[in-house]
Amino acid sequence: MALYAIGDLHLHYQSELKAPGQLRDRVWKNHEEKFRKNCNKLITTEDTLVLIGDHSWGKNLSECELDLQYICDLPGRKILTRGNHDMFWDTKKTKQLNDLYQSRLTFLQDRYETYRDYAIVGTKGYTFEGPFWLDRRGRIVDWDEKEEEHAKKLVERELQRLRTSFELAKADGYRKFIMFLHYPPTNILEERSGFTDMAEEYGAEQVIYAHSHGESRFHDSIHGEFRGIQYHLASGDYLRWHPLKVLE
Ligand SMILES: [Fe+2]
Ligand SMILES: [Fe+2]
Repeated sequence: MALYAIGDLHLHYQSELKAPGQLRDRVWKNHEEKFRKNCNKLITTEDTLVLIGDHSWGKNLSECELDLQYICDLPGRKILTRGNHDMFWDTKKTKQLNDLYQSRLTFLQDRYETYRDYAIVGTKGYTFEGPFWLDRRGRIVDWDEKEEEHAKKLVERELQRLRTSFELAKADGYRKFIMFLHYPPTNILEERSGFTDMAEEYGAEQVIYAHSHGESRFHDSIHGEFRGIQYHLASGDYLRWHPLKVLE
C-alpha cells in the first residue's frame, strides 16, 4: 500500500492543446502513454494516487469526458485536486462531480481524505507570478503592483479553503497531515508564505505541489526540507511521468 502524487497531466483527448510548447518539448511526446505505462507498472489497486491539478485542457465537463475516463482507467484509488486550468470543475459544484464519478474518482475541495492515519488536505493554492520587470542581467527590479494586490486576495481565499480542510481533519482527531497544492507554496520573490506558515502551524509532514513545468520553472519554489517540512515538486514533466511516492 502506497500513496503517490503527480500533477499537470494536461490531457487533451477532446480539446485543443493550448500550450504549443508542449508539442515541441520531447518530454510531452506521447506523455499519456508513458504515464499510463508507468502507473500500470507501479500502482496497485490498494494504492492511492493524488492528481494535483491541471488535469485537462477541456473548457467544460463534456470536453473532459475522455480525459477523466483516462484517469478513471488508471490503477488504484484516484483523488483529484483543482488546478488553474481545470475549467470543467466549478468549486460550487464539487458535490455534483463527486456524485457523477462516485466510486471512480474523488474530487477534493474544502474537506479532507484519509490515507492510513494521515489526513490528505489540499487546494489549488495561488502565487503571484508577475509580470516582473528585469534588468539587463535578468534580475527582478520591479513588478506589477496591481496584479500583486489581486493575487493577495486569491491567496487569502485559498488559505481559507486550506484551513477549512485542516480544521475538519483536526476535529475528527487527525494529527498527521500531507498537504497538496497545485500552485507552488512560494513564488520567486518569497522565502516563505501563508501556505508554508499554515503547513508549519498544523505540522504537515510534506507539502506536494505542481504547476511549475518546463525546465525554467522547476526551481521557482522550495525543494527538500524547509523549517522541518519536506517540499516536493510533482509536476508530470519534472517527474518524467513517474508518480512520486509520498508515503509507503
Ligand atoms: Fe500546468
Ligand atoms: Fe497550473
